[in-house]
Amino acid sequence: MLDTGDDLFTRDDPIFANKELLEISHLPGEGRIVGRDDEISNLANAVNPAIFGQSPSNVLIYGKTGTGKSLCAKYVSQRLVETAGDEGVNATFAYVDCAQDTTETQAVQTIADSVNDVDATGIKVPDKGLSTSTYYKRLWRILDAQFDVVLILLDEIDKLDDDDILMQLSRAGEAGKIEQCKLGVIGISNKIQYKDRMDERVKSSLCEREFVFPPYDANQLRDIMEARSDAFRDGVLDPSTIPRAAALAAREHGDARKAIDILRYAGEIAQSKGAPTVKEEFVTQARERAETDRFRELIRGSTPHSRYVLQALALLSLSNQRKDGFRTSRVYEIYESICRQEGSDSLSLRRVRDLLKEHAFLDIIEQSKHSGGSAEGSYTKHQLLEDPEVVKEVLTEST
Ligand SMILES: Nc1ncnc2c1ncn2[C@@H]1O[C@H](COP(=O)(O)OP(=O)(O)OP(=O)(O)O)[C@@H](O)[C@H]1O
Ligand SMILES: [Mg+2]
Repeated sequence: MLDTGDDLFTRDDPIFANKELLEISHLPGEGRIVGRDDEISNLANAVNPAIFGQSPSNVLIYGKTGTGKSLCAKYVSQRLVETAGDEGVNATFAYVDCAQDTTETQAVQTIADSVNDVDATGIKVPDKGLSTSTYYKRLWRILDAQFDVVLILLDEIDKLDDDDILMQLSRAGEAGKIEQCKLGVIGISNKIQYKDRMDERVKSSLCEREFVFPPYDANQLRDIMEARSDAFRDGVLDPSTIPRAAALAAREHGDARKAIDILRYAGEIAQSKGAPTVKEEFVTQARERAETDRFRELIRGSTPHSRYVLQALALLSLSNQRKDGFRTSRVYEIYESICRQEGSDSLSLRRVRDLLKEHAFLDIIEQSKHSGGSAEGSYTKHQLLEDPEVVKEVLTEST
């Protein structure tokens, strides 16, 4: 039996000194952004005119998950607003997570609400209840009343239901919707094929500048983690822990989010075991957890059919010993049977191929080309890179 209630909780965290540094939403300061100097200066260059109150270029940023797209876009936007302020230009930026605000109305509402200062404008932006066009009208009025320039960050832009908001935003100036305020859009996506789906007119105005962020290598991941090692108390991290985590994360994806997650989980494992230090061996266990999280995050907000395709591959992998993947036709068969079970019409083989390509770009699956000789021609095989058990588990979680 415990003698005093006070002993029930530990008051001092023996492992973490500053755990926020390892939260994914944490925005590291300048000295802590590693290996993205070129990307940051290219972005800054594209939006530079905003500092003089002129129109920034519209930008589209691509790259695999965890390559620092959201981080760099937010960082550059923040710096832009500060520098513009020094020049006497009133600038602001609005951040929209399109995986959350998937409809045009929600996205406009979020933008208007986040930049609005009711006391200054006297304009109200209710959470809901107005028509889309009314939200737009209020947004334009708010922008003209308060700002010289606004940057709108549309993160996970591929999750938007349609292109309508892109059309509106990219043409607001030309169409005379806003008179005084200049507007720039930064679209961010980890779907390499996103642009192909875009309306031609939107494409031409939205993709003035395009940047692709490459994955990190092991050295960069190590530096990214080292730059946050003050999240831990002095001497708590074993010297081999970060190098090991970096090597693992680089070998698989070059994903900084995963690297940071591994480090945080390794710390939590040390905590729960009551271990005095974060040992290298905890990294293995932490990696599994980070992998599941990563997959869950990757498929967050994805369409049912995109999930059915993965489910088909997971089923195939679980019921077969073969290690070299499955042909498109085989995946499609299973996919069709899943659609029947779900009472949903199946997509064309071509669309399913596109979905498979998207999964391959994000390293969820791997594709290989094979030549079947003159009789068969060439074909593609698909293989899950994620653990099929993890895929099955995450896909069957209620969404
Ligand atoms: N160069 C870097 N230096 C320091 N931290 C970084 C760097 N790049 C990424 N991170 C951190 O890694 C995590 C993931 O980065 P970020 O969210 O920018 O990735 P992303 O490219 O937007 O990925 P996704 O496509 O999944 O949204 C964040 O916590 C971010 O702070
Ligand atoms: Mg992001």
